[in-house]
Amino acid sequence: MPARKWWQSSVFYQIYPRSFADGNGDGIGDFGGMIDRLDYLRDLGIGAIWLSPHFPSPNVDCGYDISDYTGVAPEYGTLDDFRRFLDGAHARGMRVVLDLVLNHTSDEHPWFRESRSSRDNPRHDWYVWHDPAPGGGPPNNWYSAFGGPAWTYDKTRGQYYYHFFFKEQPDLNWRNPDVKTAMWQAVRFWLDMGVDGFRLDAIDTIFEDPDLTPQQSKLSQVEMLRVWRENRPPEATKEIWEQFALMFRQQLQQPGLHDLMKELRALLDEYPGDRVLIGEGDDIAYYGSGDDELHLVFNFPLMRTNRLTPAWIRANQAERLTALPPGAWPCNTLGNHDVGRIWTAFGDGVNDAALARLHLALLLTLKGTPVLYNGEEIGMTDLLLERFEQLRDNQAVNLYHVACDDGVAPDEALAMAARISRDRNRTPLHWSNAANAGFCPAGVIPWLPVNPNYAQGVNVAAQEGDPDSLLNYYRRLIAVRQATAALLAGDFTPLPPEDDRYLAFIRAAPEQRCLVALNFSNTPVSVTCETGAGQLRTIFSSHTRPAREESPVHLALAPFEAYIGELA
Ligand code: GLC
Repeated sequence: MPARKWWQSSVFYQIYPRSFADGNGDGIGDFGGMIDRLDYLRDLGIGAIWLSPHFPSPNVDCGYDISDYTGVAPEYGTLDDFRRFLDGAHARGMRVVLDLVLNHTSDEHPWFRESRSSRDNPRHDWYVWHDPAPGGGPPNNWYSAFGGPAWTYDKTRGQYYYHFFFKEQPDLNWRNPDVKTAMWQAVRFWLDMGVDGFRLDAIDTIFEDPDLTPQQSKLSQVEMLRVWRENRPPEATKEIWEQFALMFRQQLQQPGLHDLMKELRALLDEYPGDRVLIGEGDDIAYYGSGDDELHLVFNFPLMRTNRLTPAWIRANQAERLTALPPGAWPCNTLGNHDVGRIWTAFGDGVNDAALARLHLALLLTLKGTPVLYNGEEIGMTDLLLERFEQLRDNQAVNLYHVACDDGVAPDEALAMAARISRDRNRTPLHWSNAANAGFCPAGVIPWLPVNPNYAQGVNVAAQEGDPDSLLNYYRRLIAVRQATAALLAGDFTPLPPEDDRYLAFIRAAPEQRCLVALNFSNTPVSVTCETGAGQLRTIFSSHTRPAREESPVHLALAPFEAYIGELA
């Protein structure tokens, strides 16, 4: 059997730098804080860190609007601090993957400043510029996915520039080879320093239809903005996502993308150490032939629901796993900096604690690399902001304005904005029971409000010492996964019957076979399955269960129990 690559067997952990750990006590996370917490991550069992953007940025899109691709945001530290962080992670056996935003820069990036300065400067063609429509106004009816038109007029050039996201995030013109050369230089800068790869931001949006074909969707802007960020019940999802796709058909996944990904892959492959590319974009086509584009592509469809049911998971796995090209490796996640927290999104309001444990078990037992989002390990929840001035996510600010313009009452518009605002899942991490959850000193105002539930045990210090805490459950389960060949590498085979109370499947590697059974219901279930084995030895359960042999055919599960057993 081929040796497993580090990015196949590691558990990834996403750090959102602004909110993770504040080392200098100014209310904003930084590298000092991250360095101090490297032991924490190692002890959790993390093998690789994905760092959301740490580059200088005006922060219109919380760091995803970059003004210098080879720098470090001063509020996070210096390049030397970054190097200490990287070395510290490596010294503890952890890899570091950076966020690479190719689609757009900040409008304060020197490239854009120059590009907008005239129609004949050396960088005049580095962004997507077009003349106004014949009768005046934007070149066509495309929307920005963050609200408003996708075109902004620039007086100096007398032209419009295109932006899929905020107007402060102008799209680069990737059809210009100089753009590529400049960006690949930045990529090499970090690879030369020793970073282990990149999470590619928003790759779907890199090219757009050069003919500027108008879009035909009837979806309203309010609806579009809500679809973008709200999880939907399974029944509603398909149709709404289809409308959404229609709205952006000319702006997403245009020709040229796969060649670009291949080129970037070839660049990475020049470096030793199996550097990795992870695509934000869920299309399996980004795996290319299986070994010539991206190494990992997020399985976002799994989390695009507000209730994970066995039926939803079975359908998702059947579709994804059979579509993968040979050699391609799956990648699963249930949360990140753009979507609601697992506890809130997939809870039922009654059994949230048990469901949080079950969902982690799902993520760690499915086939593929699991990616965790910081704070999930202590059960952080969404925080709905109450005042307009508290909103930091400008997408929510836009939704508020668009809704008010549509005649929605301001209170209701604010509630709507708070519900989709990505602020809800980006609040500072809770390190202790101290003021500000130990994120920053008392008296300092953190960049986003701290969720008051830190005082009810939702904090690292409180959970450290409690063997039954969610944090220690994460540690245990991650350790089990890392020690279990079948979970790391085995094939996934769902077991009949298709019962909607539980999900049972086999993970089979040449050296080991395991049965995984997850009870998604609030009642005990009796799992009957043909495993073809003589013995079943329990290796993990979310519930107290004496370590002993079980029947490989009949297994009694407690409500919400997650069970893993080895078959012999
Ligand atoms: C990606 C990021 C998101 C950002 C957007 C624009 O979707 O995950 O946070 O707003 O790209 O860069």
